[in-house]
Amino acid sequence: MYSKLRSLLFALDAESAHFIGAGAARFAQRATPFMLNSMFEYAHPSLHQELFGKTFSNPVGLAAGFDKNARMIPFFKKAGCGFVEVGSVSAKKCKGNPRPRAFRLPDDQALINRMGLNNAGAKAIRPRLEKAAGQIAFPVAVNLAKTHDPKIEGKAAIEDFCESFRILAPWADYVALNISCPNTAEGKTFEDPNSLDELLSAIMTLRKELALEVPVVVKFSPPLAESFILDSLFDELILVCLGHGIHGFIATNTASDRNGLVTSKERISKIGNGGLSGQPIRARANGLVKYLYRKTSGKLPIIGVGGIANAAQAYERIKSGASLIQLYTGLVYQGPGVIRDIKKGLVRLMEEEGHSSLTHIVGIEAK
Ligand SMILES: Cc1cc2nc3c(=O)[nH]c(=O)nc-3n(C[C@H](O)[C@H](O)[C@H](O)COP(=O)(O)O)c2cc1C
Repeated sequence: MYSKLRSLLFALDAESAHFIGAGAARFAQRATPFMLNSMFEYAHPSLHQELFGKTFSNPVGLAAGFDKNARMIPFFKKAGCGFVEVGSVSAKKCKGNPRPRAFRLPDDQALINRMGLNNAGAKAIRPRLEKAAGQIAFPVAVNLAKTHDPKIEGKAAIEDFCESFRILAPWADYVALNISCPNTAEGKTFEDPNSLDELLSAIMTLRKELALEVPVVVKFSPPLAESFILDSLFDELILVCLGHGIHGFIATNTASDRNGLVTSKERISKIGNGGLSGQPIRARANGLVKYLYRKTSGKLPIIGVGGIANAAQAYERIKSGASLIQLYTGLVYQGPGVIRDIKKGLVRLMEEEGHSSLTHIVGIEAK
């Protein structure tokens, strides 16, 4: 069914297609909730996990950026996600970069986007998260980013993060700090050990002051290549995170480079700047999950994201060390049915190898 809808959607530019798809999802979550259940329902006890002090009925989540304004939470619950991460949300609302700002690369099963953190702002999103926390019994996380405004820097940038944390963290099942957005001039400022240290110090102090138990996780960029030699800078970032007692990692965000593409150079240069997602970043996102798992001896949950579009790829990421996985580009190309297909496939793969729970396979191939 999605293949027919996809031909219609793919006739439009990527952002208009997303807008229409999101409208259809919002209509369906209101008008046909039972139909959605019967279309997408699949549950299995071997997919259950307790993480961050919460129950995850399955490991397949919605990646940040798809539901920036927390409008589609019921749809993705009905579509079978085990959790949803809304955002990135910033303290102030943002229009983002001028359009066009999202592009499909079908030959690479990839996307390039430079949305630039368009979102309605923390205050507008708070009541939606509050409603979800009261009515929808499954984990809903929020991803926070600095307001897209180059004038907000240094201490003001940290206060900006703190402002959205204050507004939204009380309603979130975990808070992800997006320090790796490639689409704003200043978005990656915090992928520097000293600045990250200051940011985490402020956020973890605030968390304590507010007496919140909410877990805080940090989202990293992918390394440049699959056989990456992670420099000491990356190790320093991990140490800073551990020093502040953060609760987990997300690996990875989109990539700024254009490595490993088959799409013509001409088309790529016509598209211009933006973050690359989908199959071309899969191997290196997987590599970073392994690296993080080894560096932390598997003690903190890792959320694996980047190029996952089927059960085998999800299984590989979990064996590499991810307790949870997320999808964005895979959803665009495969449609929401991919969530059920991945869950079913994970159970089949576990059964074939004699495993009765996901918790038995997390990180078994991280060495
Ligand atoms: C159009 C688009 C918008 C995105 N917006 C955000 C965002 O606001 N915050 C964020 O942390 N990641 C954002 N991402 C990154 C995704 O969450 C994910 O990390 C990345 O796309 C890799 O996963 P994928 O290969 O499954 O797409 C965005 C990705 C895309 C394609």
